[in-house]
Amino acid sequence: MSSKEPSFATRAIHTGQEPDPLTGAVSVPIYPTSTYVQEEIGKNKGYEYARVSNPTRDRLETNLAALEGGPTSRVFASGMAAINAIATMLKAGDHVVAGHNLYGGTPRLFNQVLANFGLTFTYVDTSEFYKVERAFQPNTRLVFLETPTNPLMELCDLRAISDLSHHHGVEVVVDNTFMSPFFQRPIELGADMVVHSTTKFLNGHSDGLGGVVVCTKPEQAEKLAFIQKCSGAILSPFECWLILRGVKTLAVRMLQHDSNGRKVAEYLSKHMKVRKVFYPGLQDHPQHELAKRQMSGFGSMIAFETGSLENANKMLRKVRVCSLAESLGGVETLISHPATMTHAAVGEAGRQKIGITDGLVRISVGIEDVDDILSDLEQALSAI
Ligand SMILES: Cc1ncc(COP(=O)(O)O)c(C=O)c1O
Repeated sequence: MSSKEPSFATRAIHTGQEPDPLTGAVSVPIYPTSTYVQEEIGKNKGYEYARVSNPTRDRLETNLAALEGGPTSRVFASGMAAINAIATMLKAGDHVVAGHNLYGGTPRLFNQVLANFGLTFTYVDTSEFYKVERAFQPNTRLVFLETPTNPLMELCDLRAISDLSHHHGVEVVVDNTFMSPFFQRPIELGADMVVHSTTKFLNGHSDGLGGVVVCTKPEQAEKLAFIQKCSGAILSPFECWLILRGVKTLAVRMLQHDSNGRKVAEYLSKHMKVRKVFYPGLQDHPQHELAKRQMSGFGSMIAFETGSLENANKMLRKVRVCSLAESLGGVETLISHPATMTHAAVGEAGRQKIGITDGLVRISVGIEDVDDILSDLEQALSAI
């Protein structure tokens, strides 16, 4: 037998997903319990109360850590709960440098909730890595990045930003939701923590919310376990199981998402009604070379410009195979309007500043037959 580390697809199916030692069940059991019986005072089987720990959750945390290449992970009730948990590792007076084009819910949490507790935030265009360094203050503790960004698909150089941040004693957190660990592994490029909305590609079936933080250091994992226990935004055993099931097919799903995504981006880039396409897999994407270096695929997130709110609405009303809905990363193709959906909270001025227009449409290409997706887009775009 080879002692070689199992490859990604094998880890997804087997790490943390070993057969149940009690019964041999190949699927991880769901433990729907709030408490655990104790033999005597202080003597138990390692579990006391479900907010603190749960065997199904332990299995998922082991699995997701193995996929991102960190020693430990902690799962939360949603992606936002995971991001909030990271922020509560900081204290009043600390400063965060963040990308200016993050998922809209993240700056909403930062500006409208956490700023009230003495944290400060500076937003920069992280695609130009020196701008990150320029924003550092003596109290900067964290850099928070998305790459590619939501929805404009701008990349940042994770290796360069991690190196310069570490030089200043600042930790780097990467929201890797768009790429999943199958196509991008920020820890290997220097990130200190990785966060996901597991609601998206990791679960993959649009049937449950969740979030995860993958740690690189034991003290991060300890602090996050303490936050799970104190604030209680943990993931339910059933939703842990949904992700454990979904992740088993992550490798094959991502390959199909990527294949369909490339074809849809290519099609849109040649369509007369489409003024611009944002997809790192296209040769004319300004960071195509970085994308090839930093990611092992281009994924299935695409944004494109229809020219106006009216045009966007005309086409979105007509889609049939694609579903007009928030969210992304499911097996079904989801199409959305960032200005009124994911980025409504950023406000008109905020959107204008980062280039999110009223005519911008975002598509999360699913794994249906790509010809059906293309025909649907063709008939929907003919309404413009
Ligand atoms: C990139 C990204 N990060 C975080 C989140 C928040 O995740 P959740 O909806 O699971 O709270 C989202 C949600 O769309 C997202 O797209």
